[in-house]
Amino acid sequence: MRGAALAATMAGTGLLYRKLNPPPFETPKGEALTEVTKADSEEALRNGFKVNEKLTPLEDITNYNNFYEFSTSKGSVASAAKGFVTRPWSVSVDGLVNKPRTFDLDDLLKFPSEERIYRLRCVEGWSMVIPWIGFPLAKLLNLVEPTSQAKYVAFQTLLDPKRMPNQSTGVLDWPYVEGLRLDEAMHPLTILATGLYDETLPAQDGAPIRLVVPWKYGFKSIKSVVKISLVASEPPTTWNLQAPGEYGFYSNVNPQVAHPRWSQASERRIGEFRMRDTLMFNGYGEQVAHLYAGMDLRRNF
Ligand code: MTE
Repeated sequence: MRGAALAATMAGTGLLYRKLNPPPFETPKGEALTEVTKADSEEALRNGFKVNEKLTPLEDITNYNNFYEFSTSKGSVASAAKGFVTRPWSVSVDGLVNKPRTFDLDDLLKFPSEERIYRLRCVEGWSMVIPWIGFPLAKLLNLVEPTSQAKYVAFQTLLDPKRMPNQSTGVLDWPYVEGLRLDEAMHPLTILATGLYDETLPAQDGAPIRLVVPWKYGFKSIKSVVKISLVASEPPTTWNLQAPGEYGFYSNVNPQVAHPRWSQASERRIGEFRMRDTLMFNGYGEQVAHLYAGMDLRRNF
């Protein structure tokens, strides 16, 4: 994002460099996740739970990351996050709900796991296809019973500069915060991910639990979540606070609305050389366009 235009154009060069000078690749040592409902049906394709596109290799998903709490350099996040301790971990769910509750990690891992093969489109102009494991956020929200005043959902990442060393710098306002409208949060495509490629989430991808909202730019998919609050009005979001003219609350993937400093019409799929067209709502329009009926998506970018 800072220097993102440069980062976007550097992505291909960086990958070419890595092909010629491969760094030592450490396979993340996650725990195997069993009892996962696989996205292998025609229905999964129809409802967007799976795309029939080549999966991005694990090596790229775990070595090309945006996670500013650890490093602003994509290639350094994995080593900076190595050894990040995720137990004990809890997520409090509070605010405008009838049954506020704190879930510990084992409670969260009890939600039936589903595989979701989603495109991830970063606002910087690169993309991946990731086989997430997780469960619909709606299942968790239904348990706490949002009241009729709840209109938005606010999310927060862990704040602990001892464990997330880059939080000692002022590169962003900490903790990282994000938000969704309640109907977006309840949409079946919106998940809390606890794993990828059939194992628990690597630290660099947001261990132990992160949000994934596939039709929005990647920065909405907040990592290492510790707090979820149901609120009445639009909550503050980190990149919008940082640069309000560049990153809006909605941040739906939209090839027709350029970032002030670069076009969003195309993207580079990590592992490919040629650019490809960016799809409206990242290709999930059939599932989500109705959420924005009548809205001016240029104004609500
Ligand atoms: N969440 C937190 N807490 N901190 C971050 O820096 N980066 C975001 C998002 N979630 C970020 C975050 C951005 S810009 C992107 S593109 C995705 O995470 C990247 O996810 P990945 O590294 O798993 O591909």
